[in-house]
Amino acid sequence: MTELNRIALKILENGKGILAADESTGTMTKRLHSVKVESTPQNRILFRETLFSSEEMRQCIGGVILYDETIKQTASNGKSISQLLSEVGSMPGIKVDTGAKQMAGSSDEKITEGLDGLRERLKEYSKLGAKFTKWRGVYNISNKFPSKLSINSNAHALARYAALVQECNMVPIVEPELLMEGSHSADDCFAKTSAVIKKCFEELILHNVDLSGVILKPNMILAGTESRHKISNEETAKLTVKCLKDTVPKEVPGIAFLSGGQTEVQATENLNLINKFNDTDFIMSYSYGRALQQSALKYWAQDINDIKGTQAIFNHRAKMCTLAAKGKWSKELENK
Ligand code: G3H
Repeated sequence: MTELNRIALKILENGKGILAADESTGTMTKRLHSVKVESTPQNRILFRETLFSSEEMRQCIGGVILYDETIKQTASNGKSISQLLSEVGSMPGIKVDTGAKQMAGSSDEKITEGLDGLRERLKEYSKLGAKFTKWRGVYNISNKFPSKLSINSNAHALARYAALVQECNMVPIVEPELLMEGSHSADDCFAKTSAVIKKCFEELILHNVDLSGVILKPNMILAGTESRHKISNEETAKLTVKCLKDTVPKEVPGIAFLSGGQTEVQATENLNLINKFNDTDFIMSYSYGRALQQSALKYWAQDINDIKGTQAIFNHRAKMCTLAAKGKWSKELENK
């Protein structure tokens, strides 16, 4: 077993998942403003530290994706954030892309940037304690999208990123996200997600990336938010497992889904069903941002010093997601 494979498996062991707390300052500002909290560096770290020091971190959260600002901040006890996480057995990770920008040549689509100077930034993050990284490619679904250009360019960037990350002895999370927005059918989402993931692995292999040291972070197969033909959660789970079975090389140890705008309970229930239908050797867990933090953020905003109350909400969410990663979640446990 290689060290990279060991890290990937450790992050996702025993139903553990990933907390994606890597919102850029712009996105975090929107989130804080939506609950009427001022977006200062102090408030951003206060909310995040509240979650990172919750009791269920140790049992449920194998890794946390941080943002550049956060990995350089200090916890209230004077320790570094990486240290705080390591002490509860959670691996520090870091988002290293610099965002999705309008793509030249296909202006309604996006290409993720951040390759320039990446090797140097990775060395710095590794020194700061990061053990894994994230890069998100983003794709629209419509009749003509994602275009071949978007599929090829984003896969190429993801592969160059992953190769650089492994060179620095960290595990790359490869995240190709096909957005939920749109009127597309679930079948369309299935076909397009399959094409995107296939291309990503083609490029990863071309760039000699060690697939046993990669975590894939895909979307689930869902009908678009504006679609009139919604499918059941069971169908979502079956299609999602089929898509991954068809496209992901067997060397990949784990898959950690993004929540992508699903509600907390929907993302949990779908993950649970995915694990019930999972007839592959892949670990199927979570790497949720909104689906782990939304309720906790709303509660915290009412009194930002109510640490215990906020943690109780986060603990419950983390517990439910970890049960779902084992296929052991139920509505009764959710509502208990
Ligand atoms: O890149 C996306 C985030 O890491 C996951 O966030 O679960 O809110 O989609 P989400």
